[in-house]
Amino acid sequence: MKILSIVGARPQFIKCAPVSRALRKEHQEILVHTGQHYDENMSGIFFEELSIPPPDYHLGIGSGAHGEQTGRMLLAIEQVLLQEEPDLVLVYGDTNSTLAGALAAAKLHIRIAHVEAGLRSFDRSMPEEINRVVTDHIADLLFVPTETGVANLSREGIYDGVHLTGDVMVDALLYNQYLAKQSDILEHLDLKEYYLTTVHRASNTDDEQKLRSIMDAFAALDRQVVFPAHPRTRKYLARYGIVPAEHILIIDPLPYLDMLQLMSHAAAVLTDSGGVQKEAYILQVPCITLRENTEWVETVEDGWNVLVGADRDKIIAAVHAVTGGAGRRHLSHSGHFGDGTAAEQITQVIRQYAERNM
Ligand code: UD1
Repeated sequence: MKILSIVGARPQFIKCAPVSRALRKEHQEILVHTGQHYDENMSGIFFEELSIPPPDYHLGIGSGAHGEQTGRMLLAIEQVLLQEEPDLVLVYGDTNSTLAGALAAAKLHIRIAHVEAGLRSFDRSMPEEINRVVTDHIADLLFVPTETGVANLSREGIYDGVHLTGDVMVDALLYNQYLAKQSDILEHLDLKEYYLTTVHRASNTDDEQKLRSIMDAFAALDRQVVFPAHPRTRKYLARYGIVPAEHILIIDPLPYLDMLQLMSHAAAVLTDSGGVQKEAYILQVPCITLRENTEWVETVEDGWNVLVGADRDKIIAAVHAVTGGAGRRHLSHSGHFGDGTAAEQITQVIRQYAERNM
């Protein structure tokens, strides 16, 4: 089968690495990079480190307003689809690249497979939520990481083509966990006791009051705060004239293996990223989520994650609660996200699908 996979943003490179490795054992894969993320440390480094095959097409779309960015992708992806005529288009996650890939394929009556289907924050003000809902409703094959995701889809009347496979990010993490231990990032940054944070959601970065409140909370913490900053976040810190406290170490975005190593040894992780919440859970590191909602409700139900939004006092209280020594040992840790075989399962479903439909 000829499969055309579309990626464009940092988390999609991580997700596509295990899937691409498994798929290429039995199918032809054409890889398209939309160029949504283009800085070397947001894109190129992941291809190198995770041994992802170089993209067959790099569309160079870059940044822009949502409509403009998505629209330019739609135009460019359509041209590639007309030229390649794939049997299936594979999209990942919830970014504008996901939506553009799925829409372009649907308009040309090409079948669509969505990896990380079924997730919902139930917050339609998030661009990612719109991207997920639309993509799921036009996808033919839906690869769902959690039982919660399957239930979300059934509430929206989506039953056909739904496959609970577990999460491909677990595959990536397990595959790279031992390599990550060789990272020298702890020595390089001279770290012992620290918190790790990432902040890049538009709802936090583009709102001066929220970003200030988060930075004020970090300023009041008792350990060093390591902060690999997304370019969007750096831009807004500068725009608002926010000067980080001395023990907040703002650094460039990190490669995947360094990130895993830093997460594993952090006293706690503070984040508004979806992927980081889940990685913290798998690595058994307490997570404080700087959002009011999450798609990864299992991490909260099991007690490894707490939602605090951007409220300064809530952030500080949550950090004290998880680092105060109480309860952590007694938390359950269930395999909600699969066993690291999601990519194999996805490949198997696609094989059966090809046998039935080709
Ligand atoms: C996107 C995804 C988000 C995902 C995140 C991962 C959407 C709607 N959002 O958000 O779901 O969690 O990627 O990182 O698709 N920029 C650079 N260099 C880069 C990339 C971005 O400087 O390599 C800056 C640009 O100023 C740009 C801003 O970051 O305007 C935002 O980038 P964009 O791709 O629009 O969305 P993200 O915030 O990265």
